[in-house]
Amino acid sequence: MKISPSILNADFSRLNEEVKSIASADRIHLDIMDGKYVPQATFRASDISKITFPVPTEAHLMVEDPESYFEEFQELGCEGITFHIETQDETKTLQLLRKLQRQGIRAGICIDGFTPVSELSDAVLEAADLVLVMSVKAGKGGQDFMPESLHKIQQLRERLFVGEIEVDGGVTLGNVGNIASAGADIVVVGSFLMKQERGKRKKVIAQFQEV
Ligand code: DX5
Ligand code: ZN
Repeated sequence: MKISPSILNADFSRLNEEVKSIASADRIHLDIMDGKYVPQATFRASDISKITFPVPTEAHLMVEDPESYFEEFQELGCEGITFHIETQDETKTLQLLRKLQRQGIRAGICIDGFTPVSELSDAVLEAADLVLVMSVKAGKGGQDFMPESLHKIQQLRERLFVGEIEVDGGVTLGNVGNIASAGADIVVVGSFLMKQERGKRKKVIAQFQEV
C-alpha cells in the first residue's frame, strides 16, 4: 500500500524537520480548509512555500471555491490536486478536472464521508485520475474510520473505475489491510503517524508500505 502522510497535525513551528521525518512516504498530503466548506481554516500555499518537500505533494481542497486555489498549489509544485464533488455541479466538476489535466496535474475528485458513490456520475469517473474516498466527515484529523467506506471502494471498482483510489480519514495499521483488500491504492495517514516520535515514523511508514 502506498502512503501519503497528512501534515495537518504536524508541528508547524518545526515543519522542515517534520517533513524530513516522512521522506520515505510515497507522497505528502496537504489538507486545505477554508472555514466555509468545513468550519476550520488551515494554511495556504504561501505559508509553506519555503519548505522543501522530499517527495511529491498533493493538495486536498476542502473549500467552497476550489478553482480559486488551483494556481497557488500548482505554483507550489503539487503533482496532484483533489477537490470535492459536493462543491459544484457536474458540468463544473468536469470542467475543473480537465483544467487540472491540461496543466499536467493529477486531477482528483473527493467524496465526503457521508456522500454515496452514486453522486459520482460515469462521466466524472471517466474524467478523474483519482477518487479520494473520505472515511470520516471532512474537517479535522483524529476521527474514527467509517467502516462503510470499504464498501464505497468496492463499488468504485465494480463500476470499473481504473484510476487511483485513495482513502483519507482514521487510517491505522489496524484497518489498512481491509482497505487494501477492498481495492484501494493509497492511504492518507494523519494522526496515527504524526503522534509517533519523528525517529519512529520511517519504520511505521514501511509497515504501511508492506501491506
Ligand atoms: C480530514 C483530512 C484528513 C485528515 C487525516 O478532514 O482530510 O486528511 O487530516 O487525519 P487522520 O488520519 O488523523 O484522520
Ligand atoms: Zn485530506
